[in-house]
Amino acid sequence: MSSSEQVHEKVLGFLSGKSDENPFSLFAQLREFGPVISIPNPMGDPDKNAWMVTKMDEATHVLKSPKLFTVDPSSIEKGSEFRDKIVSDSDDSPDTFFTGKSMLFIDGIDHKRLRMLVSKAFTPKYMEGLRPRIQEIADELIDQVQSKGEMDLVKDYAYPLPINVISEMLGIPKSDRQNLQTWSSAIANGLGWGKQDPAVQKHLKEFGEYTKDLVAKKREHPKDDLISQLIAIEEEGERLDEEELISMITLLIFAGHETTSNLIATGSMMLFDHPEQLEQLKADLDLVPTAVEELLRFNGPSTSVGPRFAKEDLELAGQSIKKGDMLLVLVKSANRDEETFSNSDELDITRDVHRHLAFGFGMHMCLGAPLARVEGDIAFTTLLNRLPNLRLSIPPEEVNWQFSLSSQGLESLPVSF
Ligand code: HEM
Repeated sequence: MSSSEQVHEKVLGFLSGKSDENPFSLFAQLREFGPVISIPNPMGDPDKNAWMVTKMDEATHVLKSPKLFTVDPSSIEKGSEFRDKIVSDSDDSPDTFFTGKSMLFIDGIDHKRLRMLVSKAFTPKYMEGLRPRIQEIADELIDQVQSKGEMDLVKDYAYPLPINVISEMLGIPKSDRQNLQTWSSAIANGLGWGKQDPAVQKHLKEFGEYTKDLVAKKREHPKDDLISQLIAIEEEGERLDEEELISMITLLIFAGHETTSNLIATGSMMLFDHPEQLEQLKADLDLVPTAVEELLRFNGPSTSVGPRFAKEDLELAGQSIKKGDMLLVLVKSANRDEETFSNSDELDITRDVHRHLAFGFGMHMCLGAPLARVEGDIAFTTLLNRLPNLRLSIPPEEVNWQFSLSSQGLESLPVSF
């Protein structure tokens, strides 16, 4: 096997969740091969080409050019079964964002329409209004562990914080949140390129059924929450259909906590790995918003954004891309591009990060970014303010990384204070 084939193999292993090798040294090797490199098709289809995009300029170009690249392969002839190959939809399963009609997998005016319906609830201004409640949630979580002198930073803090925030926004009862956590992690961990844990279908079905029931209950008894507002829009007709409604709700639940909890947990781990940066941050908590951007750049939750498909034959960084080809934009690699960031492999919480791709870019750029930023700001400030002696309780090499579809997080993070 040639050295380039070996690297491709390793990257595919990593994306499918089978490898626990440090991805950043792999990505550095990939960037040396070029900004756009041919890879074996991760869906195993030899007739369709696939490419990895490794550097900032090319990654940005792909994400901001909807005329050339689409998230929806069914809008072009080739590659249309891609999503079915990740999640095979069964007829009797209710919709989820994986199997239904979610904005993440739609382009054009339908995407614009779906995104507009919820965008008001995710503006930076609206988020500022949520700050006091998010602060209360963070404080309550610390209150529960403070006297113990130790906690699992993932289970006791990083996970419950965002799930409680998004659940309150959507109006999901407290008693149901444990189930949401079980389904979301099982789905996220059970999926990967070319990998599908058989239990995923069961969890997708339960997640869809739960959401359908919840919508039925809220139809009967509307409350002052985002789901009730979306139901009212659906009932007006024309702007949102039932399948879109359910897909939207499952997307907001799933996207609204898995990634943010990874930011808090992985971000904390990155700070433990760089004790001088941790000390600097503790000494000046006004640096937290800048530190959050740097943590997102340095090792953000998403490895790649959803695949894009070329809408026509074109050339990109000297490579001939054919209509229907799949492009995997590796945002974690682009965020370490040495031509964009000086000392790109160094964590510097004072770095002035003008642009990074942790939230994607272009039309599908993360809708929840303002919420994630506020949550990250409050989570780190509260943690370091209230637990100034925070430290890792196990050797760093014993920390358990968890690899899943397009992301990488932590299973648990024992800390003392
Ligand atoms: C640190 C936390 C987060 C990260 C790193 C993150 C990352 C991303 C990325 C990379 C995308 C683009 C996917 C693509 O282009 O294929 C995305 C889209 C999206 N995110 Fe987030 N996300 C985070 C938090 C949130 C939160 C809190 C919500 C709120 C509910 C959210 C909701 C969404 C939605 C709805 C989309 C789809 C947007 C569209 O297709 O137009 N995300 N996110």
